[in-house]
Amino acid sequence: MAEILGIDVGGSGIKGGVIDTALGEFVQDRIKIDTPNPSKPDAVARVIKQMVDHFHWQGKIGIGFPAVIKNGVCYTAANVHKSWIGANIEEIIHNATGCPVKALNDADAAGLAEMKFGAGKGIDKGVVLILTLGTGIGSAIFVNGQLLPNAELGHLEMDGKDAEKVAAANVKETKKLSWKDWGKRLKDYLKTVENLIYPDLIILGGGVSSRYEKYQQFLNIRTRLTPAELQNNAGIIGAALAAAEEE
Ligand code: BGC
Repeated sequence: MAEILGIDVGGSGIKGGVIDTALGEFVQDRIKIDTPNPSKPDAVARVIKQMVDHFHWQGKIGIGFPAVIKNGVCYTAANVHKSWIGANIEEIIHNATGCPVKALNDADAAGLAEMKFGAGKGIDKGVVLILTLGTGIGSAIFVNGQLLPNAELGHLEMDGKDAEKVAAANVKETKKLSWKDWGKRLKDYLKTVENLIYPDLIILGGGVSSRYEKYQQFLNIRTRLTPAELQNNAGIIGAALAAAEEE
């Protein structure tokens, strides 16, 4: 398989690195640049062009982006500028860089990477749910190893509120919650989810997965839980994998 420039656009940072898609590993050190504010298409495209220049990149680019994406077009924009809605991210980044571009939802990208190289490796039976806990809550559902794209379980309603505004990892920071208080919120969210889709396994991702031992004890739910293994790199690796699969 090929080497691909994988990029993960997040609410606070844009991360990128060249990935060996056969191994799921970085070929060189990754870089991170702050997400521009406002995160309008032109501004994000300028940052991605900066990354392309940094890596002297001329090949395919895979982009994980925090939105519902169908055939390159963004349908939502929860944690990025609203002007992305209706925009074709693949065309915008292609025009800015000259490179062929494949874009997909960021949590779907992270899920692809975890299923191939991380905590879901080798699981080709049953329903696996990957949740990314960061600025928002991203979700990816795999049924017998196949991705159901664009699941938006972070926006379920909890106590009349958008679930990610209650239980995302950054809520712990902004509200200065203890691990216990945040863990309880996360448990309530996970219970809501497990009662809707009855997964066989839930993989918890995002940067906070490296601190799993701090909140694991508060997550007593029915479904088997495990922390993600690729942490903040899953989105970059998965975006590259998705681009590698494109003709
Ligand atoms: C967005 C999702 C995204 C998630 C994680 C949510 O607010 O609606 O599309 O996957 O944040 O970034």
